[in-house]
Amino acid sequence: MEANRFEFTSIVFLILLMVAPLWVAGRSGRAGRMNRWDQVIRMPGEADGPEENSTRWAVLVAGSKGYGNYRHQADVCHAYQILKRGGLKDENIVVFMYDDIASNELNPRPGIIINHPQGQDVYAGVPKDYTSQHVTSENLYAVLLGDKKAVKGGSGKVVDSKPSDRIFIYYSDHGGPGVLGMPNMPFLYANEFMEVLKKKHASGSYKEMVIYVEACESGSVFEGMMPKDLNVYVTTASNAEESSWGTYCPGMDPAPPAEYITCLGDLYSVSWMEDSETHNLKKETIAQQYTKVKERTSNYNTYNAGSHVMEYGNKSIKSETLYLYQGFDPATENFPPNKIHVDKRMDVVNQRDADLLFLWQRVSSVPFYLLSDGT
Ligand SMILES: *[C@@H]1O[C@H](CO)[C@@H](O)[C@H](O)[C@H]1NC(C)=O
Ligand SMILES: *[C@@H]1O[C@H](CO)[C@@H](O)[C@H](O)[C@H]1NC(C)=O
Repeated sequence: MEANRFEFTSIVFLILLMVAPLWVAGRSGRAGRMNRWDQVIRMPGEADGPEENSTRWAVLVAGSKGYGNYRHQADVCHAYQILKRGGLKDENIVVFMYDDIASNELNPRPGIIINHPQGQDVYAGVPKDYTSQHVTSENLYAVLLGDKKAVKGGSGKVVDSKPSDRIFIYYSDHGGPGVLGMPNMPFLYANEFMEVLKKKHASGSYKEMVIYVEACESGSVFEGMMPKDLNVYVTTASNAEESSWGTYCPGMDPAPPAEYITCLGDLYSVSWMEDSETHNLKKETIAQQYTKVKERTSNYNTYNAGSHVMEYGNKSIKSETLYLYQGFDPATENFPPNKIHVDKRMDVVNQRDADLLFLWQRVSSVPFYLLSDGT
């Protein structure tokens, strides 16, 4: 009897594993939902800066779509709220996100996006500059270059920066060797992105730029490619050949509220954002943040389900305060410049497994008889 029951359970489990992708594919084929599944990459800027006439600009990019990728758009919405509280103006923050999460039928809290298990809504107020089919690498390049004419669709907002301005770019999504995902083809390729950065530098339209990138193999976009003389400083979630990691996923500690069947954030991303929120950014330097994010993202130097945060470009820039890029929230005035983190180790799941986990949660949250639907 025992053996039979065991066998029966195993068979049901195997069937579930086999039909889950088919069922999902069937659903997305019919309803056009969740088709991000087949797009997972598997291939080998107070409004004014401290100086007069200096403006902070920011470009925030979520490179994915689909509820299974909830975390990337949640990261980007959260980043917007930090910059907004920091005093950046909407006219200087350009947001790229597919915008299919808040109103997604699978979202247990309609109209709300969270990026932490006990997190507040981070969706309210986020500018919808480039959404759905307008989240493209071409539009991103045009926006960075301040080229209004080249932009197709969207709000038309571009980084119309002056020589004294600073620019902060933050991107979150899947990646692969030399490539970052975008929800619409083509992807963002390292060589093209480098050309855009060189062109922007040649136009003399910024003082300094800081770029944060969360993606698997994100180091490969900059490794051996990122010049040191463009006044750009970059950190990436991972080196050129490893995964970056999702966090606040179902079944982990800390877990999202029970009604969430998807990860709420990514480890490198929540590490820099939770660090920014708990420090006085007029005192904390980019270098201090880098050190703390590197430690947390490495899963406290175990690299067990953690990745190597890397840095590229002009490293002199990191001695500057974060304030110059992310602004300053008066509520943090008395926060220490370098508060000791008391976080315990985080449970994390790598970017690719996060998708599988989502599918598994999706499958296990529906009655068994429904599984035959669409297969
Ligand atoms: C600020 O910039 C504007 C336009 O770029 C220029 O006309 C003005 O003289 C500048 N002011 C200062 C104080 O540099
Ligand atoms: C790096 O940035 C610093 C500070 O802005 C600057 O003085 C230095 O010339 C830059 N280095 C290169 C190689 O461009």
